[in-house]
Amino acid sequence: MKRLLTAIKPTGDLTLGNYIGAIKPILKMQDEYEMYMFVANLHAITISNNPEELNIKTKKVAATYLACGIDPIKTNIFIQSENLYHANLSWILECGTYIGELNRMTQYKDKSKKLNDSSITCGLYTYPVLMASDILLYDTDVVPVGEDQRQHVELARNIAIRFNGKYGATFKVPEVVVPKQGARIKNLQDPTKKMNKSDSDTIAKGSILLLDDVNVARKKIMGAVTDSQMVVKYDVVNKPGISNLMTIYSCLEGKNFDEIEKEFDGKNYGAFKVAVANSVVKFLTDFQTKFNKIMNSKELDNILDKGLKKAILISKPKYEAVVRKVGFMRCER
Ligand code: TYM
Repeated sequence: MKRLLTAIKPTGDLTLGNYIGAIKPILKMQDEYEMYMFVANLHAITISNNPEELNIKTKKVAATYLACGIDPIKTNIFIQSENLYHANLSWILECGTYIGELNRMTQYKDKSKKLNDSSITCGLYTYPVLMASDILLYDTDVVPVGEDQRQHVELARNIAIRFNGKYGATFKVPEVVVPKQGARIKNLQDPTKKMNKSDSDTIAKGSILLLDDVNVARKKIMGAVTDSQMVVKYDVVNKPGISNLMTIYSCLEGKNFDEIEKEFDGKNYGAFKVAVANSVVKFLTDFQTKFNKIMNSKELDNILDKGLKKAILISKPKYEAVVRKVGFMRCER
């Protein structure tokens, strides 16, 4: 069975973008792949950190996986920091990654632009190498992510190929899988940007959080930026706001764009937005009921313990093989 691995970092309450781009596409893959899904809390401390908040956000991401329909019997769910091999392997891979490669990472460029030099950490810079370590440690076949993470998975591929070339076949070279639809859900107020969970300036009106009060979520949809043409038609270049709402509606309702265009033919944007808002509210209500039940149960800790055990079982021999190859021989004993 091929192996699938993906993760979300606990830097804020997850958005509808995280669900549509990264969780929903995996739901139907759970029967076809050996599944690993973790909470990337090591990646969450690269910009700033509030330890108590991080603890809670970490638990919330794990609970979100379950409330979205990730089945803990089929999927190994665990917390990244609890498997020490991730950070250990990352160091070894950092020593085989070049500054030029990291300088080209668009997410680093975007994030560091907003910070001054004294607040850009080395962790923010080497973040993609830790992500490569996450992936390569498990001999992962496929990594499903949203569009913004594609470049990081491509770097992981290059790191693996280079390591294999230098030390002999060691890592499987993973494939990135980006959903055809919903790989970049946009900000409702500025559809040139992605819907974001970490940027407090854009969350207020532009992001639907999975834990938003449903009335707040409805208002955000009704206030979404559109255009002056009054035709519900999918056209990302000329109608990015409407196209984004159509993508959300399509992913939640399982209707294609032709069906949606027909459904709203001759109707105004108000009627379309009400339908999208109803669909989002229905999804959030169901999600939040499940989420609250999971957060209040003891089930989650057992699931995370079981997932971690399996994660270590798979990654330990891989790490030990790497260590032998680079010449840390005492590990052989
Ligand atoms: P993160 O936490 O930023 O995002 C988690 C996943 O959600 C996707 N995503 C979106 N998809 C569609 N529309 C959006 N607006 C949107 N916003 C986010 C992301 O593409 C991602 O798939 N570095 C990763 C976490 C990570 C990881 C890994 C992922 C750490 N190690 C190993 C895969 C494999 C991150 O910060 O994702």
